[in-house]
Amino acid sequence: MTRSQILNDGGVAPDDPAGDTPTNQEPLAPALAVNVRLHVNGAQHAVHVSARVTLLDWLRDDLRLTGTKKGCNEGACGACTVLVNGRRMNSCLMLVAQCDGSEVTTIEGLAGPDGHLHPVQQAFIDCDAFQCGYCTPGQVLSAVACIQEGHTRSPEEVREWMSGNLCRCSAYPQITSAVLAAAEGKV
Ligand code: FES
Ligand code: FES
Repeated sequence: MTRSQILNDGGVAPDDPAGDTPTNQEPLAPALAVNVRLHVNGAQHAVHVSARVTLLDWLRDDLRLTGTKKGCNEGACGACTVLVNGRRMNSCLMLVAQCDGSEVTTIEGLAGPDGHLHPVQQAFIDCDAFQCGYCTPGQVLSAVACIQEGHTRSPEEVREWMSGNLCRCSAYPQITSAVLAAAEGKV
């Protein structure tokens, strides 16, 4: 069961189906539903969705765009990074309800329609900038925005502006090289 499902069910935990376990908290009120229109990777969506659903859960559970990864689910790791109107955002901290009228880009929407990789994706391959790959979709999308923002004048600047994306495999030197290579048009 996902966090959004638990919230939509009024905060009843899966091992407490009757919801009669005493707690210190009042049960959550039923979630309001809102109408949201947005584009994801160029495709238009008009949805009626709980006001509590995060963009991350909606992308993964409803659209099945599982390239966007869930790490900490609290804004600390960057694994869930997507672009919203060209800006990098932690999708675990953003509600779908906040995305009305927005253009969302996930890792699935970065390559060209013919499957040709985005230069940043190619740079990550060329520089061997991953090990397990769990952080990679978020790193790549963050790198795209980092380059567009112009924060690539030195390795130190790239490290600073990519510091919101953690890599447990510690592929940081290669990630920095990939961002610099893509920024310099070397791919
Ligand atoms: S899963 Fe969103 S920042 Fe970690
Ligand atoms: S490549 Fe494994 S967490 Fe970054």
